[in-house]
Amino acid sequence: MKKLTALFLALALCLCGTLAMADELTTVEAGKLTISTSPDFPPFEYTDDEDNIIGIEPELLTLIAEKVGLELEILPMDFDSALLAVQQGKSDAVVSGVTVTEGRKLIYDFTESYTVITQAIVFKDGKDITMDTLKDQTIGVQRGTTGQILVEDDFGEDHVVAYDTYSTVFQALLNDQIDCIVMDDAVAKAYLAVNPGLVMVGTTYEPENYAFGITKGNTALLDAVNEALKSFMEDGTVQAIIDKYMAE
Ligand code: ARG
Repeated sequence: MKKLTALFLALALCLCGTLAMADELTTVEAGKLTISTSPDFPPFEYTDDEDNIIGIEPELLTLIAEKVGLELEILPMDFDSALLAVQQGKSDAVVSGVTVTEGRKLIYDFTESYTVITQAIVFKDGKDITMDTLKDQTIGVQRGTTGQILVEDDFGEDHVVAYDTYSTVFQALLNDQIDCIVMDDAVAKAYLAVNPGLVMVGTTYEPENYAFGITKGNTALLDAVNEALKSFMEDGTVQAIIDKYMAE
């Protein structure tokens, strides 16, 4: 009997802990963790045949929302809009394979980083494009990405064509409207897997860290999400989720 009482007490404490945490959190919609994302980014976020948003980040977010006691709501949109949604007060955070940059640190409060990628160049098999010949190419990018920022800085806007989603960037590549794409390597790999005639090579750009970009100044939410994220990194959950989707 004593054991049972102790168990109930422990359970009650657990429940109160979660509820108290959620109570103290101010979010766009009370009780919810509203996330903006661009689900054109496998294996990080994409849609299945029934239009459900799946991938590494949605799966991780589901666990984190549960842990902080909020209901998860994922709003799909173009990447550029997903970044803006946080500033417009439409979402609590952008979680969309977002690279931490000095510029973005002024706009968002970033969580810990949970993975690293580098930029890659994707083009049609048979062409020979490298970092050295990139300056002579018409480069396709997704609007608002670090890929766009990097190549526009290096080669000028005249060499770059920006599209809203990766499906349109890849369509443009297949139709020879652009010579190549500069984008995150892990995602390039996923697109190559379903587009036989394409190949990729690396770049000399710096590695980039992904993190969640939370509303600037929402420290309580940042701390709660960070604590949950850290616990899932420490116990191996994050790596297991990454491995699962990378293997697919
Ligand atoms: N990591 C790059 C960036 O932060 C690209 C992210 C694009 N994400 C997406 N879901 N389409 O700019």
